[in-house]
Amino acid sequence: MNHPLTPVTATETDTLQVRLRATTYEASNILGFELVPLDATTNLPAFTAGAHIELHLPGGMRRSYSLLNDPQETHRYCIGVNLDAHSRGGSRYMHEQLRTGTVLTIGTPRNLFAMDESSPFNVIIAGGIGITPILSMIARSQTLGTPWRLHYVARTREHAGFLSLLDSYQCQPASEVLLRFDQEPGGQMLDMNTVIEELPANAHVYACGPAPMLAAYEKATAELPPERVHREYFAAQQAAATDGSYTVTLARSQRTLTIAPGQTLLEGLLAIGAEPTFSCQQGVCGTCEVRVMEGTPDHRDMVLSDTEKAANDRMMVCCSGALSPWLVLDL
Ligand code: FES
Repeated sequence: MNHPLTPVTATETDTLQVRLRATTYEASNILGFELVPLDATTNLPAFTAGAHIELHLPGGMRRSYSLLNDPQETHRYCIGVNLDAHSRGGSRYMHEQLRTGTVLTIGTPRNLFAMDESSPFNVIIAGGIGITPILSMIARSQTLGTPWRLHYVARTREHAGFLSLLDSYQCQPASEVLLRFDQEPGGQMLDMNTVIEELPANAHVYACGPAPMLAAYEKATAELPPERVHREYFAAQQAAATDGSYTVTLARSQRTLTIAPGQTLLEGLLAIGAEPTFSCQQGVCGTCEVRVMEGTPDHRDMVLSDTEKAANDRMMVCCSGALSPWLVLDL
């Protein structure tokens, strides 16, 4: 649903305030949250399929969540949150304390998982809560008239969120939803090689899910043209760089610090009172990207492509370190 009204203006820091209008139970451990403008006569900033927003939560916590609703909608942002058994506080707060009606500060949408809209066919693979960015991609595929096929894997049907929304999309032509519940009696793992072997000609393929699924995906798609292969991680794949023993010069503030062994670059920056923007601290959201002016980063993130990493002109300071004895950063 599109509201042709005045867009909400984001502040200089690209944040805005929204109200939690509704919380819905979607599946075991998964809640849906609907965020709306404070002023119902305004629209929210537009987003593209695959985008995420960052929520500013109490205690300085910031958490990024994919937008799952149709990008044509400008009257709301919808997200889904899985209660993480290893929650550092974000998902637990969202599930147990956040009340309907609360006003939240959020960042404007960013997209690190954009679709290629020239694709003749989209094959989409989702595992668990990885379904959330995929839902907006399906909505967009429907709008574009691009045929699509979804492989959606969850432990059991009770753990699979947003099935009724998927049902509504499946009513439309050129769509196919293939569900797999691998922990139900007789359930089987998704055979990633078969999924990739059966891709229609020139199809683009998208995946979001847990690490083992994405590892199988990377392997199965290794021979495909990279421009047809898209993925988004929601957890770190590599440990943060903590070898330390390098010097960092902050060009803008004219300060120099030494990162000690056992310390991450982010920890070193915070220790001297620098204020880099960060969120996930796991190298998956892109919030902490900083321009590298000199030196060679030790890239550990899942945001930059191999080509972007090879350029060595930017880095994620939450998890990456240095291969050279020094770095000069645009901070
Ligand atoms: S804070 Fe998310 S990538 Fe660094």
